[in-house]
Amino acid sequence: MEKYVLITGGTKGIGKAVASCLGRAGYNLILTYASAVDVADQVITDMQQKLGVKVDALQADISVKESIEKIYQYLTERSLRLDAIVFNAGLTCRDSFEDLKMIEWEQIFFANVHFPVFLMQRIVGLMNRGGSVVFTGSLMGIQPHSVSLVYGVTKGAIHALVKNMVKFLVPYELRVNAVAPGFVDTEWQKTKPVEIRRNIENKVSLGRFCDPEELAEVYKMLIENSYFNGEVVVVDGGYSYK
Ligand SMILES: NC(=O)c1ccc[n+]([C@@H]2O[C@H](COP(=O)([O-])OP(=O)(O)OC[C@H]3O[C@@H](n4cnc5c(N)ncnc54)[C@H](OP(=O)(O)O)[C@@H]3O)[C@@H](O)[C@H]2O)c1
Repeated sequence: MEKYVLITGGTKGIGKAVASCLGRAGYNLILTYASAVDVADQVITDMQQKLGVKVDALQADISVKESIEKIYQYLTERSLRLDAIVFNAGLTCRDSFEDLKMIEWEQIFFANVHFPVFLMQRIVGLMNRGGSVVFTGSLMGIQPHSVSLVYGVTKGAIHALVKNMVKFLVPYELRVNAVAPGFVDTEWQKTKPVEIRRNIENKVSLGRFCDPEELAEVYKMLIENSYFNGEVVVVDGGYSYK
Protein backbone atom coordinates (compact mmCIF):
# COMPACT_ATOMS: atom_id res chain seq x y z
CA MET A 1 0.00 0.00 0.00
CA GLU A 2 1.23 3.55 -0.80
CA LYS A 3 2.53 5.57 2.14
CA TYR A 4 2.22 9.37 2.45
CA VAL A 5 4.00 11.84 4.71
CA LEU A 6 3.25 15.54 5.14
CA ILE A 7 6.28 17.66 6.10
CA THR A 8 5.85 21.34 6.99
CA GLY A 9 8.81 23.42 5.85
CA GLY A 10 9.82 20.47 3.68
CA THR A 11 11.55 22.29 0.82
CA LYS A 12 14.77 23.40 2.54
CA GLY A 13 17.12 22.49 5.38
CA ILE A 14 16.03 19.87 7.90
CA GLY A 15 12.60 19.32 6.33
CA LYS A 16 14.10 18.72 2.89
CA ALA A 17 16.64 16.24 4.28
CA VAL A 18 13.85 14.38 6.12
CA ALA A 19 11.84 14.35 2.87
CA SER A 20 14.76 12.80 0.94
CA CYS A 21 15.34 10.22 3.64
CA LEU A 22 11.66 9.20 3.76
CA GLY A 23 11.39 9.32 -0.04
CA ARG A 24 14.25 6.81 -0.25
CA ALA A 25 12.22 4.63 2.13
CA GLY A 26 9.27 4.72 -0.29
CA TYR A 27 7.07 7.47 1.22
CA ASN A 28 5.21 9.78 -1.15
CA LEU A 29 5.94 13.34 -0.10
CA ILE A 30 3.72 16.37 0.51
CA LEU A 31 5.95 19.30 1.39
CA THR A 32 4.74 22.68 2.59
CA TYR A 33 6.63 25.96 2.36
CA ALA A 34 6.10 29.67 2.97
CA SER A 35 6.91 31.60 -0.21
CA ALA A 36 9.90 30.29 -2.21
CA VAL A 37 7.94 28.80 -5.15
CA ASP A 38 11.00 28.35 -7.42
CA VAL A 39 12.84 26.39 -4.75
CA ALA A 40 9.76 24.23 -4.15
CA ASP A 41 9.33 23.52 -7.89
CA GLN A 42 12.99 22.51 -8.18
CA VAL A 43 12.70 20.22 -5.16
CA ILE A 44 9.67 18.49 -6.73
CA THR A 45 11.54 17.91 -10.01
CA ASP A 46 14.76 16.71 -8.35
CA MET A 47 13.11 14.41 -5.82
CA GLN A 48 10.71 12.85 -8.33
CA GLN A 49 13.66 12.03 -10.59
CA LYS A 50 15.98 10.75 -7.87
CA LEU A 51 13.54 8.98 -5.57
CA GLY A 52 10.83 7.64 -7.87
CA VAL A 53 8.03 8.54 -5.45
CA LYS A 54 5.21 11.09 -5.76
CA VAL A 55 6.29 14.54 -4.61
CA ASP A 56 4.13 17.64 -4.32
CA ALA A 57 4.62 21.00 -2.63
CA LEU A 58 1.95 23.25 -1.16
CA GLN A 59 2.34 26.88 -0.17
CA ALA A 60 0.94 27.01 3.38
CA ASP A 61 2.27 29.69 5.71
CA ILE A 62 2.26 28.53 9.35
CA SER A 63 1.73 32.10 10.53
CA VAL A 64 -1.80 32.31 9.09
CA LYS A 65 -4.69 30.16 10.29
CA GLU A 66 -6.21 29.82 6.78
CA SER A 67 -3.33 27.45 5.95
CA ILE A 68 -4.94 24.82 8.19
CA GLU A 69 -8.03 24.67 5.98
CA LYS A 70 -5.86 24.86 2.86
CA ILE A 71 -3.93 21.73 3.88
CA TYR A 72 -7.16 19.92 4.90
CA GLN A 73 -8.75 20.75 1.52
CA TYR A 74 -5.62 19.65 -0.34
CA LEU A 75 -5.75 16.23 1.32
CA THR A 76 -9.50 15.66 1.08
CA GLU A 77 -9.81 16.78 -2.56
CA ARG A 78 -7.23 14.11 -3.45
CA SER A 79 -8.66 11.53 -1.00
CA LEU A 80 -5.22 11.23 0.60
CA ARG A 81 -4.56 9.56 3.93
CA LEU A 82 -1.33 10.16 5.82
CA ASP A 83 0.97 7.65 7.49
CA ALA A 84 3.16 10.32 9.05
CA ILE A 85 3.26 14.05 9.71
CA VAL A 86 6.45 15.99 10.43
CA PHE A 87 5.68 19.35 12.06
CA ASN A 88 8.99 20.93 11.19
CA ALA A 89 8.53 24.57 10.11
CA GLY A 90 9.22 27.08 12.88
CA LEU A 91 9.81 30.79 13.28
CA THR A 92 12.07 32.84 15.50
CA CYS A 93 12.45 36.47 16.54
CA ARG A 94 15.83 37.73 17.66
CA ASP A 95 14.70 41.06 19.21
CA SER A 96 16.14 41.75 22.63
CA PHE A 97 13.90 41.19 25.66
CA GLU A 98 13.59 44.97 26.02
CA ASP A 99 12.49 45.46 22.40
CA LEU A 100 10.20 42.44 22.14
CA LYS A 101 6.63 43.36 21.15
CA MET A 102 3.62 41.39 22.32
CA ILE A 103 2.39 41.09 18.74
CA GLU A 104 5.67 39.37 17.74
CA TRP A 105 5.45 37.06 20.76
CA GLU A 106 1.89 36.11 19.71
CA GLN A 107 2.89 35.56 16.08
CA ILE A 108 5.77 33.23 16.93
CA PHE A 109 3.63 31.35 19.44
CA PHE A 110 0.87 31.00 16.85
CA ALA A 111 3.23 29.64 14.18
CA ASN A 112 5.26 27.31 16.40
CA VAL A 113 2.59 26.00 18.79
CA HIS A 114 -1.02 26.92 17.93
CA PHE A 115 -0.66 26.09 14.24
CA PRO A 116 0.50 22.46 14.61
CA VAL A 117 -2.04 21.80 17.39
CA PHE A 118 -5.01 22.96 15.32
CA LEU A 119 -3.71 21.50 12.06
CA MET A 120 -3.35 18.19 13.89
CA GLN A 121 -6.92 18.52 15.22
CA ARG A 122 -8.21 19.17 11.66
CA ILE A 123 -6.39 16.32 9.91
CA VAL A 124 -6.04 13.66 12.60
CA GLY A 125 -9.01 11.84 11.07
CA LEU A 126 -7.09 11.60 7.79
CA MET A 127 -4.25 9.61 9.35
CA ASN A 128 -3.91 5.86 9.04
CA ARG A 129 -3.88 3.89 12.27
CA GLY A 130 -0.37 2.90 13.32
CA GLY A 131 0.90 6.22 11.96
CA SER A 132 3.39 8.58 13.50
CA VAL A 133 3.78 12.29 14.23
CA VAL A 134 7.17 13.94 14.72
CA PHE A 135 7.80 17.52 15.79
CA THR A 136 10.97 19.54 15.33
CA GLY A 137 11.77 20.89 18.78
CA SER A 138 15.14 22.37 19.69
CA LEU A 139 17.98 22.14 22.15
CA MET A 140 17.02 25.76 22.90
CA GLY A 141 13.79 24.46 24.42
CA ILE A 142 15.85 22.51 26.96
CA GLN A 143 18.91 24.68 27.60
CA PRO A 144 17.80 28.32 27.89
CA HIS A 145 19.40 30.60 25.33
CA SER A 146 20.09 34.30 25.46
CA VAL A 147 19.27 35.11 21.83
CA SER A 148 15.52 34.54 21.52
CA LEU A 149 13.21 34.22 24.51
CA VAL A 150 10.09 33.41 22.51
CA TYR A 151 11.91 30.79 20.40
CA GLY A 152 13.17 28.90 23.46
CA VAL A 153 9.79 29.07 25.19
CA THR A 154 7.85 27.87 22.11
CA LYS A 155 10.28 25.00 21.54
CA GLY A 156 9.92 24.05 25.23
CA ALA A 157 6.15 24.15 24.67
CA ILE A 158 6.51 21.79 21.70
CA HIS A 159 8.37 19.30 23.89
CA ALA A 160 5.57 19.51 26.49
CA LEU A 161 2.99 19.23 23.73
CA VAL A 162 4.50 15.96 22.52
CA LYS A 163 4.29 14.40 25.97
CA ASN A 164 0.75 15.73 26.55
CA MET A 165 -0.51 14.58 23.16
CA VAL A 166 0.42 10.93 23.66
CA LYS A 167 -2.82 10.13 25.52
CA PHE A 168 -4.97 12.20 23.15
CA LEU A 169 -3.69 10.23 20.17
CA VAL A 170 -4.33 6.81 21.71
CA PRO A 171 -7.86 6.55 20.19
CA TYR A 172 -6.34 7.13 16.76
CA GLU A 173 -3.52 4.60 17.33
CA LEU A 174 -0.89 7.22 16.56
CA ARG A 175 2.52 7.78 18.17
CA VAL A 176 4.03 11.23 18.68
CA ASN A 177 7.66 12.22 19.32
CA ALA A 178 10.03 15.13 18.80
CA VAL A 179 13.58 15.62 17.65
CA ALA A 180 15.44 18.39 19.50
CA PRO A 181 18.34 19.34 17.23
CA GLY A 182 21.32 21.34 18.42
CA PHE A 183 23.01 23.28 15.61
CA VAL A 184 22.29 22.08 12.09
CA ASP A 185 23.98 23.39 8.96
CA THR A 186 20.98 24.92 7.16
CA GLU A 187 20.29 28.42 5.81
CA TRP A 188 19.01 29.24 9.30
CA GLN A 189 22.58 28.84 10.67
CA LYS A 190 24.63 29.77 7.60
CA THR A 191 23.62 33.44 7.94
CA LYS A 192 25.38 33.66 11.34
CA PRO A 193 28.73 35.51 11.44
CA VAL A 194 31.83 33.30 11.23
CA GLU A 195 32.98 34.07 14.78
CA ILE A 196 29.61 33.00 16.21
CA ARG A 197 29.75 29.78 14.21
CA ARG A 198 33.30 29.08 15.54
CA ASN A 199 32.07 29.74 19.07
CA ILE A 200 29.27 27.20 18.60
CA GLU A 201 31.63 24.62 17.08
CA ASN A 202 33.92 24.97 20.10
CA LYS A 203 31.05 24.04 22.40
CA VAL A 204 30.03 20.95 20.43
CA SER A 205 32.01 17.87 21.47
CA LEU A 206 32.11 16.69 17.86
CA GLY A 207 33.51 20.11 16.87
CA ARG A 208 31.05 20.75 14.03
CA PHE A 209 27.46 21.53 13.07
CA CYS A 210 25.10 18.63 12.35
CA ASP A 211 24.57 17.70 8.71
CA PRO A 212 20.80 17.74 7.92
CA GLU A 213 21.18 14.29 6.34
CA GLU A 214 22.46 12.67 9.53
CA LEU A 215 19.67 14.33 11.51
CA ALA A 216 17.05 13.07 9.05
CA GLU A 217 17.82 9.47 9.95
CA VAL A 218 16.57 10.14 13.48
CA TYR A 219 13.17 11.30 12.15
CA LYS A 220 12.92 8.14 10.05
CA MET A 221 13.75 6.02 13.08
CA LEU A 222 11.05 7.75 15.17
CA ILE A 223 8.50 7.31 12.38
CA GLU A 224 9.26 3.67 11.74
CA ASN A 225 10.10 2.30 15.18
CA SER A 226 6.82 1.04 16.59
CA TYR A 227 7.58 1.59 20.32
CA PHE A 228 8.92 5.17 20.54
CA ASN A 229 6.14 7.33 22.00
CA GLY A 230 6.23 10.68 23.83
CA GLU A 231 10.00 11.08 23.51
CA VAL A 232 12.07 14.18 22.83
CA VAL A 233 15.28 12.92 21.24
CA VAL A 234 18.16 15.39 21.61
CA VAL A 235 20.63 15.35 18.70
CA ASP A 236 23.30 17.93 19.54
CA GLY A 237 26.66 16.25 18.94
CA GLY A 238 27.42 16.56 22.67
CA TYR A 239 26.79 20.26 23.35
CA SER A 240 28.00 21.94 26.50
CA TYR A 241 27.59 25.51 27.78
CA LYS A 242 31.13 25.63 29.15
N1 LIG B 1 19.03 24.81 11.83
C1 LIG B 1 19.17 24.60 13.13
O1 LIG B 1 20.28 24.68 13.68
C2 LIG B 1 17.97 24.22 13.96
C3 LIG B 1 18.19 23.77 15.28
C4 LIG B 1 17.11 23.40 16.05
C5 LIG B 1 15.84 23.47 15.53
N2 LIG B 1 15.64 23.92 14.27
C6 LIG B 1 14.27 23.96 13.76
O2 LIG B 1 14.19 23.24 12.56
C7 LIG B 1 13.13 23.72 11.76
C8 LIG B 1 13.61 23.95 10.35
O3 LIG B 1 14.74 24.78 10.38
P1 LIG B 1 15.81 24.80 9.19
O4 LIG B 1 17.10 25.19 9.81
O5 LIG B 1 15.72 23.56 8.40
O6 LIG B 1 15.26 26.05 8.34
P2 LIG B 1 15.48 26.44 6.81
O7 LIG B 1 16.64 25.74 6.22
O8 LIG B 1 15.46 27.93 6.80
O9 LIG B 1 14.14 25.87 6.07
C9 LIG B 1 12.93 26.44 6.33
C10 LIG B 1 11.79 25.69 5.64
O10 LIG B 1 10.60 26.09 6.34
C11 LIG B 1 9.77 26.85 5.48
N3 LIG B 1 9.17 27.95 6.19
C12 LIG B 1 9.79 29.05 6.71
N4 LIG B 1 8.87 29.89 7.23
C13 LIG B 1 7.66 29.30 7.04
C14 LIG B 1 6.33 29.68 7.29
N5 LIG B 1 6.03 30.86 7.87
N6 LIG B 1 5.33 28.84 6.91
C15 LIG B 1 5.60 27.65 6.31
N7 LIG B 1 6.83 27.23 6.04
C16 LIG B 1 7.86 28.06 6.39
C17 LIG B 1 10.68 27.34 4.35
O11 LIG B 1 9.89 27.70 3.20
P3 LIG B 1 10.37 28.96 2.27
O12 LIG B 1 11.62 28.52 1.59
O13 LIG B 1 9.24 29.20 1.33
O14 LIG B 1 10.60 30.11 3.20
C18 LIG B 1 11.57 26.13 4.19
O15 LIG B 1 10.90 25.08 3.50
C19 LIG B 1 12.60 24.95 12.51
O16 LIG B 1 11.48 24.61 13.28
C20 LIG B 1 13.75 25.35 13.42
O17 LIG B 1 13.31 26.00 14.57
C21 LIG B 1 16.69 24.31 13.47
